[in-house]
Amino acid sequence: MKIVLSVFLLLCGIAQAVPFTDGDAKAGKKLFEHYKCNSCHIGKMGGDGSAIFTRANHKVTSPEKMIAQIKMCSGNVGANLSAQEEQNLAAYLNQKYYKFK
Ligand code: HEC
Repeated sequence: MKIVLSVFLLLCGIAQAVPFTDGDAKAGKKLFEHYKCNSCHIGKMGGDGSAIFTRANHKVTSPEKMIAQIKMCSGNVGANLSAQEEQNLAAYLNQKYYKFK
C-alpha cells in the first residue's frame, strides 16, 4: 500500500513539473483564432504565421517568457486576457510548438 501511495505521489510531482497544466489547450486554440493572433505573425513571417514560434532564435525560450510575450502581444490588440486565458493560450502554444517540460 505504501508503495502504491508513493508511486501516486511521484506521478503527481511529475505532472506538476509540466508548465501550464492549469491551462486548457483546446480553449487556447479558440482564443488564438478568435484574436487572430497569427495576423501580425503572417506579416512578419510570410504565409505561415506559426513559423514565428519555431523560427531560428525564437524569443520564447522558457515558460516565463511565453507568458510575458503573450501579455505583450495581446496588449497590442487590446485583448484584455485574464490570467486563465493566458494559461490557455500558453498551454496551446506549448503543446503544439514549444514543448517545454
Ligand atoms: C499587433 C501584432 C501582433 C498580434 C496581434 C500578435 N502578435 Fe505575437 N508577435 C508579434 C511580433 C511582432 C512578434 C515578434 C516579436 C519579436 O521578434 O521581438 C510576436 C511574437 C510572438 C511570440 C514569440 C515567438 C517567438 O519568437 O518565440 C508569441 C508566443 C506570440 N507572439 C504570441 C501571440 C499570441 C498568443 C497572440 C494573440 C493573443 C499574438 N501573438 C498576437 C506581433 C503580434
